[in-house]
Order: sequence, then structure tokens, then C-alpha cells
Amino acid sequence: MHATELMYPLTTISEIGRHESKDVRLEGWLYNLRESGKLLFPIFRDGSGVIQGVVAKNAVRPEVFETIKNLTQESSVKIEGRVRADKRAPGGYELDVSGVEVLHRVAESDPFPISLKEHGVDFLMEHRHLWVRSPRQAAILRVRAQIIKAARDFFDERGFTLTDPPILTPAACEGTTTLFPVDYFDEQAYLTQSGQLYIEATAMSLGKVYSFGPTFRAEKSKTRRHLTEFWMVEPELAFATLDDIMNLAEGLIAFIVARCLEHRRADLTTIGRDLSALEQITPPFPRITYDQAVKMLEDGHARGVLETKFVWGGDLGSPDETYLSTQFTKPVMIHRYPAQVKAFYMEPDPVRSELALCVDMLAPEGYGEIIGGSQRVASYELLQQRIKEHGLPEEAFKWYLDLRKYGSVPHGGFGMGIERVVGWICGLEHVRETIPFPRTLHRLYP
Ligand code: 4AD
Ligand code: MG
Repeated sequence: MHATELMYPLTTISEIGRHESKDVRLEGWLYNLRESGKLLFPIFRDGSGVIQGVVAKNAVRPEVFETIKNLTQESSVKIEGRVRADKRAPGGYELDVSGVEVLHRVAESDPFPISLKEHGVDFLMEHRHLWVRSPRQAAILRVRAQIIKAARDFFDERGFTLTDPPILTPAACEGTTTLFPVDYFDEQAYLTQSGQLYIEATAMSLGKVYSFGPTFRAEKSKTRRHLTEFWMVEPELAFATLDDIMNLAEGLIAFIVARCLEHRRADLTTIGRDLSALEQITPPFPRITYDQAVKMLEDGHARGVLETKFVWGGDLGSPDETYLSTQFTKPVMIHRYPAQVKAFYMEPDPVRSELALCVDMLAPEGYGEIIGGSQRVASYELLQQRIKEHGLPEEAFKWYLDLRKYGSVPHGGFGMGIERVVGWICGLEHVRETIPFPRTLHRLYP
């Protein structure tokens, strides 16, 4: 199995700069191999990065040269060599290979299906379990992890307590049309659409809380923004108004972008992201009312940019959001939508009761909604009336109404969809690349 005895200290490609001019060992996979006469240029990846090796025929034992020459894409190896700084190398270093041990050689008769040439999206999605190995996909997953860590740090550092809502629930939170039913021991249950209702309860215990977990929507439409399973970060605050919620949302997004620029610059570059667009994401973000947004949409229609004329009272569709979000270089917060297009739990505007005290944040560059939130109905009677008007089963919401019976306070929060934020920060065309294994209308495999 092995060609030589390896003895140098183990390191990773991301840490290799600490070992300049030293001999090290790496554990990884062969990403690509070029041959040029008596030189081999294998490219290795180890999960932390990618590095090019150089193998000179006259500088290594013959079996080392032969072994590497015969390596197939994605074969797993341990390699040794001396670290050499090279300004032209993407990571700044190359490895002058001196030894190799093959752990598993991929058979020539059954090669790794994803070659370095272009593949169609369907093929790649069908091989998602292997596609995640590509440097670009790995970079996206590292940015995703950074976004999640940044969101959690943001709330942890500001006195919020993480509380986990249930995933199996007896009722709808975000409309009854996208529920995933589950047979719960002969009782009807659903996968949660949002943890909000439950963290309203924990907010009345702990003051400032947040949740982070998977949420589900049986989205029957095929769009570049919708998954059926996605992850949401949701803060909820007691004694908070819509302004507090908008300030918090603005702070969170600015914090996340700054963290990505600080820690994931190389990955964003690998992905091909225009960093200058992200560098502009600093507070304050523009805030406009729904009424003002409608005026902008009418204007877009008049100029022939938008096909259909937007009528006051409707919800913003994807083309409307795309249009509005390209009018700003920063995320824009649109507040006070007509209550009729929003969820049952939203507090009405005391000045104009036909409006809800809610906010949607749209990311720039046409990315559309990344955050949705609101102040919540604080009155027992009004909430009871709303539950009836929306045709929701009052029995399932008894506990939720209780929160308005015992020390009700103005409160609110929002939900940030992780995949939407990853898509925007990475500059991706579709949310399917923002999560390791996306679930959509037509995809449950792998
Ligand atoms: O606007 P939404 O539906 O709001 C709620 O669920 C509230 N209960 C949140 C709260 O106030 N605590 O969803 C919030 C966010 C959206 O802005 C979007 O980023 C994301 O969740 N989202 C989706 N992401 C991917 N695929 C889907 N099908 C999504 N639906 C919503
Ligand atoms: Mg929304």
C-alpha cells in the first residue's frame, strides 16, 4: 500500500505558511495532475485549502515519481515535501514533494465522476455528495459556517439566550399553504415553518432570546430563492418596538458581512465575489415604507423596467423585490406593509390600522428578501380575533394566547434565512449551492 515511510510533522495546507523552508507532511486528496517532461505538478487538497506540488524526476526516488505519476483524481494520499514560498501560487506556497503514501487509489475503470471540465447543474446536483469536494463548493460551505458563527456570536455577545423551539408542531405559523404534514401517532402534526411562536414564550422568560434551527416550507414553486428545508436565525425581544427590531436587523447584517470580509476573504475570492460591493455594507441602511416602495415600483413600470403595474395592497413578488433591491447599494428595509398580506400575529400600526408594524430587509444586487420580522400583537382580544379571521384552529393556539394573558408586553423579532444570506454574500445565482444537501420541490436525493 505505501511507497515510503513518512516521518515529517503533520500540518494542513491552511497552516503551511508557518513551515516555510521546512519539511512537512499533509493528508489529503489528489485534485489534479499535470505532467511536463521530467516534472509532475500534482495539486492536492486537504479540506483546509489547495496546494500545488512539484515532483522532479531527478530529485526523488524513482518509486515516488512513478506513484505520483500514476495517481488518479481524488485518490487519498499522505505526502511529504519542503514548503517553498512562491508569489505566483494562489495560496502563496508550493510543496517540493519528496515522499508519498497512497491510502486509496481511485480505479481508472471507475474514475471520479466530476472532472475539472464543465458539468450541467442536474448532473452536479445528482452528485452533490461528491460535488462538495470542489474548491468552490468547499469555499461556499466555509463562508456559510462563518455566517452562522457570526450570527451566534452577535446574539451571544449582546445578552441573548439561545432557546431551541420544537420542530414537530401542532399548528401553522406562516400560513397554511406550505405546511409539511407528519403523522404523529395518529395525530396530525407539521414540521415547523418558524420557531417564532415558541421563542415568544421563552422571551417572556428570558427577555432576549434567539433560536437557530431548520425550518420547513412545502414550497411548490421552483425559484432560485426557495428551499423546502432551510435554516433560520430568529431573535425575539420583550419590550421591543419595530424600530428596535430594525436596528437589530441592521446591526446583525453589518456584523456578519464584516466578519466574512475579515475571515473569509480568500474563500470569497475563490468563489469570484466582488468584495467592493460587500465593503459598502455598513450602517445605516436605507429604510422606506411600503407606500414609498409602491411609488418606486410604479416608477419602474412607467420606465418600462417592470412588466406589470404594481397595485397598492398586494404583496411584493420576486420581480418587485429584485427591482427594489437593485435601487440601493445597501440592504433596504421596507416597513409597514398592508396587514392583509402579512401573518396573523403582527401588531397593527396605531396610526394606520390597515398597516402592520413589520419589516422586510432586501439584500442589494437583486437578491431580494433576507429578513422578515415584526412587532407582535400584544392584546389578547385582538390576537384571538386574528386567529379566527385567518381560519386557524384556536385550540392549537391556546398556549400562544396565554402569553397575552399573563403580563403581555410589546415585543417582536425577526427571522433571517441563512441560505438567502449565504447566496447574497457569496454572490450565487441559486440557493441550491448555499447548503450541503439542498431540498427543493424536485430534489430529495442524495
Ligand atoms: O419572512 P418569513 O416567512 O418570516 C418568518 O418566518 C417569521 N416567523 C420570522 C420571525 O419573525 N421570527 O421568513 C423569514 C426568512 C425570510 O426573510 C427568508 O430569508 C427565509 O426566512 N425564508 C426562506 N429561505 C429559503 N427558502 C424558503 N422557502 C424561505 N422562506 C423564508
Ligand atoms: Mg417574509
